[in-house]
Amino acid sequence: MVWWSSKIIMNRKKVISVVGARPNFMKVAPIDRAFSEYAPDIEHIIVHTGQHYDNNMSGSFFQDLEMPNPKYFLGVGSGSHSEQTAKVMVAFEKILTKEMPNLVIVVGDVNSTIACTLAAVKMHVKVAHVESGLRSFDRTMPEEINRMATDAICDYCFVTEKAGEKHLRESNFPEEKIFFVGNTMIDSQLYSLGKINNDILLRYNLESHNYALLTIHRPSNVDGKESLAMLVDVFSEMAKKIRLVFPIHPRTLKNLEKFDLLDKFNSIGNIVKTEPASYLDFLSLMKHSKLVITDSGGIQEETTALGVPCLTLRENTERPSTIEIGTNQLVKLDNNAIISTVDDILANKIKVGSVPPLWDGQASKRIVNIINELI
Ligand code: UD1
Repeated sequence: MVWWSSKIIMNRKKVISVVGARPNFMKVAPIDRAFSEYAPDIEHIIVHTGQHYDNNMSGSFFQDLEMPNPKYFLGVGSGSHSEQTAKVMVAFEKILTKEMPNLVIVVGDVNSTIACTLAAVKMHVKVAHVESGLRSFDRTMPEEINRMATDAICDYCFVTEKAGEKHLRESNFPEEKIFFVGNTMIDSQLYSLGKINNDILLRYNLESHNYALLTIHRPSNVDGKESLAMLVDVFSEMAKKIRLVFPIHPRTLKNLEKFDLLDKFNSIGNIVKTEPASYLDFLSLMKHSKLVITDSGGIQEETTALGVPCLTLRENTERPSTIEIGTNQLVKLDNNAIISTVDDILANKIKVGSVPPLWDGQASKRIVNIINELI
């Protein structure tokens, strides 16, 4: 080895980014792309905890997002919250011991986020949290606990919207820990919009702007028989007015079976039921839909960036800019409330929104430039 290349390797910095569940992949893909500008000085390693493991919840995303395969796959799979979190911690600690990175990046609010943060902080490895500061103030959501705990112990907080900065400041986080950088999920969206086509519309016989897209998986909506039965009624009512497209999350499907709701659900006409869609197919479905009904976190942001009306079936949101600036509306889990809001949209009484500051496709570059200075 010539002297200068061994010098580069000796001075080389190492950053590990963690992905685990479906909403993580689109946040890390553009960060990985931004790190390629700093190669070989910074080595960027992707670790996949395996919290989500089905191809359509995980594998297809790597291809769609042009993301390299992870260097490590921890294969933790499902389990109770403690079981899943603990399994990720044990497996990730071994990777940290082997790789000794200068920094770990965690994104979002899933169990893998807090698990890897805990493992790293206890080994005195610096941690940056991307999508920091968001709060629903609803402690019954597992994601809220993950957000609060991750922010409390991480070293650097990368914030997607102004409310995030505000919450961190109110909790007395030191100013030098907080960076308002924008939204890496929107980096992925803007990068991918040029790649989508209408194939999925043709496959399901859908007319652009003449169908509603549904995504429901949150425990508060699907883990109780009463709420899930009510949603089946709502969808049945909606299908009389507009064609529905429903990529079904495994949690939701399991519970439709568990609560004996499958027959009723299957009797709904005018609905396309699919497995969870790939990233590009889902982006195409969102972009061409008349409206989206969801309980997801990220989809509230993605519809706001696309300017598509979004009804979020929750009591609260940790992403207030999608309501204050964007196209999102909170609707409580009530048959009449949902149907009358849908009727408004079908009658073109639509909430017009705009795109929140710094959701411009450059968030990942900002993050990586800052990290380069920090490490
Ligand atoms: C998780 C995240 C949530 C995120 C959601 C996106 C936490 C606490 N929750 O919730 O924030 O919005 O992912 O999907 O981290 N399953 C499969 N195949 C898979 C993955 C899961 O069949 O690839 C099954 C599991 O066995 C389980 C159910 O789906 O029964 C739910 O999975 P789990 O990871 O526990 O939580 P999510 O509801 O997906």
